Amino acid sequence: MNIIEKLESLKPERKLARTWFMNEHKRQISLTYDERETAGIRVLSIETFLCYYYVLFGHQPTSVLDLGCGEGQSIKYLAKRIPNSKLTGIDASSDVIKTAAKRVKEAEFIAADVEQLNEHLLSEKYDVIFIHLCFGLFENPLKLLKDLFMLLSDQALIYIVDLNRESWNEGINSCLSVDEEKYIHDQYNASFNKDELEELFVYVTREKELTFKVGSSLIGGFDQFSDDFFSLIKNRELQAAIKSISEEKTPETHIIPQLLHSWIIKKQLS
Ligand SMILES: C[S@@+](CC[C@H](N)C(=O)[O-])C[C@H]1O[C@@H](n2cnc3c(N)ncnc32)[C@H](O)[C@@H]1O
Repeated sequence: MNIIEKLESLKPERKLARTWFMNEHKRQISLTYDERETAGIRVLSIETFLCYYYVLFGHQPTSVLDLGCGEGQSIKYLAKRIPNSKLTGIDASSDVIKTAAKRVKEAEFIAADVEQLNEHLLSEKYDVIFIHLCFGLFENPLKLLKDLFMLLSDQALIYIVDLNRESWNEGINSCLSVDEEKYIHDQYNASFNKDELEELFVYVTREKELTFKVGSSLIGGFDQFSDDFFSLIKNRELQAAIKSISEEKTPETHIIPQLLHSWIIKKQLS
């Protein structure tokens, strides 16, 4: 089955996974789980892209678009970390967008389905597009990526961190109730594996001035002895984020589920 057929065949799974953010009762379960289990990972992901952006381009990003931003936790962190930058969060749920807007006054929040990007948004450019723990939810990821390419500045990256369908048994370990198990089960079922993501990126980046990388290690998915890995590992903020995740976990819950890290990079030759 090629990637187009695969995307089509997983549509019902992605639809079911989305219901956990639309239905009131299910949303309470997903919010409680995410608040407890993903806060540390979020900080690590943000520090990773800030550091990698600097490695690639020699300066901090000045604009970040957070797709599926939830209650704005990432944007709040970024507002402190890169003050004076343009920060925009989009989420399909107007409830979470209201919470996010109260939480961070200095950012723009938009209640919208990211698959229906409007004209206002399409006229903007961003240095970083961050898609954290929601890539498996979109109805048409192929079209979404193509739309997002139009929003990239000349020195830009898209950083996608998401579940790896093949690691579901590690993820299910962190659940504290049957409802949470159902939630996590549905999220894993809708997610991709590494080969599928690679095939998707080969397909969407062909004939474009874009490169991509996909991996599963804790630090940006980069292999332990790669140049990318060594370029990141000396960064103090990143080290602090890794330390804080490892301290958060007790020996019984020590397993951190393997995530997939995808980078799409636009670096125009000068
Ligand atoms: C698991 S939460 C992740 C929130 C946040 N990115 C984080 O890391 O904490 C997924 C979020 O994606 C949002 N979402 C799902 N499909 C969406 C769509 N088509 N457009 C915009 N937001 C969407 C949901 O409403 C939910 O808030």
